Amino acid sequence: PLPPPFQVPLPIPAVLKPVGTYGGADRYEIVQREASAEILPGVRTPLWTYDGTFPGPTIESRRGRPITVSHRNELPVPTVVHLHGGRTPAASDGYPTDLVLPAGWPDASQQAHPGMGGSQHHAMRYGGTGDSHAMRRGGMGDSGAMEHGGPAPRPQPAPGHGMSDPRAVVSRLTRDYTFPLDQRPTLLWYHDHRMDFTAPAIWRGLAGLHLVRDDAEDALGLPAGPRELPLMIADRAFAADGSLAYPSLDPTLRERPGVREPYLAGVLGDVILVNGAPWPVHEVDAARYRLRILNASNARHYELEAVTDDGRRLDLVQIGADQGLLAAPVTHKLLPIAPAERYDVVVDFSGVPIGGRVRLVNRLGSGRTRDVMAFRVARRAADDSRVPGTLSTDLPDWRRSDAVRVREFAFRAGQMHAGHGWLIGGLPFDPARTDVTARLGDVEVWRLVADVHHPVHLHLVGFRVLSRSGRPPLPHDAGLKDTVSLRPGEGVEIITRFDGYRGRYLFHCHNAEHEDMGMMANLEIV
Ligand code: C2O
Ligand code: CU
Repeated sequence: PLPPPFQVPLPIPAVLKPVGTYGGADRYEIVQREASAEILPGVRTPLWTYDGTFPGPTIESRRGRPITVSHRNELPVPTVVHLHGGRTPAASDGYPTDLVLPAGWPDASQQAHPGMGGSQHHAMRYGGTGDSHAMRRGGMGDSGAMEHGGPAPRPQPAPGHGMSDPRAVVSRLTRDYTFPLDQRPTLLWYHDHRMDFTAPAIWRGLAGLHLVRDDAEDALGLPAGPRELPLMIADRAFAADGSLAYPSLDPTLRERPGVREPYLAGVLGDVILVNGAPWPVHEVDAARYRLRILNASNARHYELEAVTDDGRRLDLVQIGADQGLLAAPVTHKLLPIAPAERYDVVVDFSGVPIGGRVRLVNRLGSGRTRDVMAFRVARRAADDSRVPGTLSTDLPDWRRSDAVRVREFAFRAGQMHAGHGWLIGGLPFDPARTDVTARLGDVEVWRLVADVHHPVHLHLVGFRVLSRSGRPPLPHDAGLKDTVSLRPGEGVEIITRFDGYRGRYLFHCHNAEHEDMGMMANLEIV
């Protein structure tokens, strides 16, 4: 029973309060546990949650003020927390084998071959999957614009999986993650990052928002308070009983990773949730609003536009990217957003008639996946917010000539040792292999080449987009990013400085199914 669009009010995730301040760091506590919610009318959806809700509670922090988040795992499987976009020491970055084991989970020494233990698990055939119509195999929305090249990949055991990683730091029941937050203010998000099981864990609800703020940004006069809205957009598929449908090979998510073969390119849902509610509506003043948009979908891409009842497209004034404010606003009519990307956008509803509606539409969707949410303009109201012509002056302007190295990585479907997978530079992820060693402080240019759509994410650092297939970056590539959407056949150059901390980090595709099926690599900063 899908609800009609634009009926359910937009939920705003609660902001978590610290339990105290110890040694100058605010301490937060989050319990990871099973819960359920009425997402679709009349049925309950079992979820895996941070603190009982999906999305989890929002953390609001200040730049340079460290926090500790203590996570307690009461779920039936191991978990790992990663703060996406965080400038975080490696020990708290949520490396996929740094598991937090639930009570009663056998410890590493008792489990010789957990997880992807052998390729015999993955002997699958096409067809006969009896999938719900609701799940779509994906990659890129349902525009049909994207087909993956090459053979349909099959999930593969990642060699050296999980608890056999000698560098893994495994905890039992709880783990304290420490975040210095010495970084530009922006919208981050935290989500599960467990080896081989990230996609289904996020799908079940393990995702939440984290806003970093600072005084300089507060002083700009941007829309604030009730006129600043976090929007976590995520598609999901539901079974008739209300449970989330996901084509896992092992629905317990305990042992055997991977999805059924038709979904190897990514899992799409036919219900669009914003902050956990299907096609919600939010009542607004006829004024400027600041929308902090995150695409938390596993595999769905969106091209967003804000359309009035009479078909006018409002300006989407982009003020920030994944890693904070742009130098100056960039105005879009259409904003593409790939999985894990964030856009900070101001929309002015003052020209919309009272009682009118503005729909946020996904141009890549079809039927019900074309709608995302709506704003109902309820009343005239004073508005003293502004969008300054200069937003920030601290963006790094690394030049190509600063780079001490140029590396190239191909993101492609390919052959793993006993089947097909998603590979970086021809290799599937292996925690035991160092793929890149970068020196702390070095500036590097990376050329990222794609077969199909791959949203590529680097941990620890922000980067700037230098070029796309030899051409200048697109308007929405502005600013400092941590995830860049490679389009089919493209070669995208990015530039970054490996600042922050030494240690073992990752870069990977953030199509969460690609990520689980090998498309991840190690970045060692020395
Ligand atoms: Cu959203 Cu490796 O992360
Ligand atoms: Cu990918």
